[in-house]
Amino acid sequence: MRILVTGGAGFIGSHLVRRLVADEQNVVVNLDALRYSGNLENLADLVGHPRHTFVRGDICDVKAVEDVFREHGIAAVINCAAETHVDRSILDPDQFARTDVIGTGVLLEASRKAKVTRFLQVSTDEVYGSVERGHSKEGDVLDPRSPYSASKAGGDLLVRSYWTTYRFPALITRGSNTYGPNQYPEKFIPLFITNAIDDQPLPLYGDGRYRRDWLSVFDHCSGIEHALRQGEPGTIYNIGGGNERENIAVAETILSRLGKPKSLLRFVQDRPGHDRRYAIDCGRLRESGWAPAVSFEEGLRATIDWYRDNQTWWRKIKSGEFRTYYEQMYGQRLKDGTSCVS
Ligand code: DAU
Repeated sequence: MRILVTGGAGFIGSHLVRRLVADEQNVVVNLDALRYSGNLENLADLVGHPRHTFVRGDICDVKAVEDVFREHGIAAVINCAAETHVDRSILDPDQFARTDVIGTGVLLEASRKAKVTRFLQVSTDEVYGSVERGHSKEGDVLDPRSPYSASKAGGDLLVRSYWTTYRFPALITRGSNTYGPNQYPEKFIPLFITNAIDDQPLPLYGDGRYRRDWLSVFDHCSGIEHALRQGEPGTIYNIGGGNERENIAVAETILSRLGKPKSLLRFVQDRPGHDRRYAIDCGRLRESGWAPAVSFEEGLRATIDWYRDNQTWWRKIKSGEFRTYYEQMYGQRLKDGTSCVS
């Protein structure tokens, strides 16, 4: 199958591209704008691969997107291109509406005109909002609460409308918090691992007792591929790891694996509108034959080891634009923060 993966130089996208090209039935065209978190080093092992073509371009750019369809005869689309970091969406919401809503619309329309046989939108469990009790099901009312999750919900609604209106064969996957190698170090797990390696403080928002369901990037990608192949058009599939943990517990595991003291933990000013808990019911995808394969303990250990052994990859990132972002996001917070160790 000739598959277009957008955002294929990013974290989830690059793992997905690698997984897809490993199957010799697939040819992958990878469209990525190479914005701040897109990184060709994530694809270094695929340079010159006969069934992988990289195209630099933005999903908001109608001509660039139409050119890809015209030149590559695409049969299926997986849209991983997105602005994804909640904290950045609070600083700069415009870019989120642009990529996650307008970009999704451009891609949908080009895909419809090209009569693709499958369109899979990679979305997030954050569209359900904070879930104090129980588990979100695919039919639940959406209650996004950050500019990021609201933009992703907008994209999901557009995708749904293409199924309802045109019977365009679109599916949506909603993944939970994903972790693994090559994740940009603005996100919780890679930020905490890399700060701990450097003996820098780990900024825990609020009381540190927010809960997330952690999903290995390898399981997330297997879930996406499973939904693409086995899923019903017009259907939404939750993909979760079934590993609900409090942030403080994850932070303590990272410190312990790296042999670093708990005194590096800092309680800092909370994220505005911080969702207390995400939890999803993944029964629909599991009933169709998918199951996660990586335990959180094993996956987190391997991820910590990867960041310890691949410092060139993340040090380059952390020494660039990231420093300005880090100062803006954490400078005052860390000055005002309190130690978690009494
Ligand atoms: O649930 C899926 C979503 O998970 C994805 O759609 C998003 O793209 C992804 O960023 C993630 O959203 P979160 O906001 O949950 O992820 P983040 O890594 O930013 O934060 C995880 C938790 O850790 C959250 O409760 C906030 C907290 N946190 C995060 C950072 C960056 C801290 O306590 N301190 C921090 O410095």
